[in-house]
Amino acid sequence: MNKRVYSGIRATGRLHLGNYFGAVKGMLELQDNYDCIFSVVDLHTITVPYDPSTLQSSVREIIIDYLAAGLDPNKCKIEIQSMVPQHTELAYLLSTIYPVSRLEDLPTYKEKKAQYPKYINMGLLYYPVLMAADVLLYKGELVPVGIDQEPHLEVMREIARKFNSMFGQTFPEPQRFKTNGDYVPSLVGAGKMSKSINGSFINLTDDLKTIRKRLAYAPTDSGLIGGNVPETGGVANLFKLLKLFKLDKEYNKFEQDYRDKKIRYSELKDVLAEAIFKELQPFQAKRKEFINNPKLVDLIIIEGQKKCIQIVEQTIKEVRKKMGLT
Ligand code: TYM
Repeated sequence: MNKRVYSGIRATGRLHLGNYFGAVKGMLELQDNYDCIFSVVDLHTITVPYDPSTLQSSVREIIIDYLAAGLDPNKCKIEIQSMVPQHTELAYLLSTIYPVSRLEDLPTYKEKKAQYPKYINMGLLYYPVLMAADVLLYKGELVPVGIDQEPHLEVMREIARKFNSMFGQTFPEPQRFKTNGDYVPSLVGAGKMSKSINGSFINLTDDLKTIRKRLAYAPTDSGLIGGNVPETGGVANLFKLLKLFKLDKEYNKFEQDYRDKKIRYSELKDVLAEAIFKELQPFQAKRKEFINNPKLVDLIIIEGQKKCIQIVEQTIKEVRKKMGLT
């Protein structure tokens, strides 16, 4: 049997270039040769403040994004996490073998606590356990995600190891599948591109005008510094984006311009905007097709659920038995 692959994206808004390069590109690469399950993780979505009246449509948007990007339901299984209730059952069972102190120490938990000081809930602490359950439920071995998810994967492996040692060999230890865009930098000059940081991202649904506008705000310098292109900051990030979009010739030209103190950032941003839009155009066209065919999307969701439940029922049965519950 082919190796199992699992990945998921929260329904917190439109997908951006970080999600695309860090996760979706990896999913596309793997769907041809592995047994893949790709999820919209709505139960993870509700760990931070959200609007219940728009959650359903946000989930559907991500499903449509998946399909438009090229995930093919004939090659992979597409899942909405809450439609497969075994996720929460396994998460609870796994939570009984994992220390709270380790979860409190995780950087993502600390970040979210700082971001939403009035919304520090159990679900937030529990987030990595549910994520471990997502992958282990399918006995997933490969997880295409960005580098920011590595601490969560470490938890996943620890849980798998602990479960195996306590109850007998059951779960593989999942590894991250790395893409060459596993850390897409922010447009604000520091950190990663993120849905929760205004001005940091370009959405996959953005038109050329919007992409240009977003890039226009990206910080640069006087252009009169010379020497090597810096390794961090706004200028560095623009150069990283040139690389990501395989604009090697242009990269070399602008690098030389930088050295010669004659770089024109408006020109660089223009080249970048055109390349980004070109990459996104087929996605945007396919997106419209799926929006115009809601019945097909419904069918894909229902079929996905059926196939997924068949797989996970076996895991839950095995886990219940090993833990002495049946
Ligand atoms: P989420 O929704 O925050 O992010 C979805 C995916 O996008 C990647 N990503 C990035 N990659 C590169 N550069 C960036 N700037 C960037 N920003 C986001 C993330 O690494 C992720 O792959 N915890 C997960 C959701 C999840 C999950 C799972 C993933 C829940 N259960 C099981 C894999 C397996 C998350 O935060 O997604």
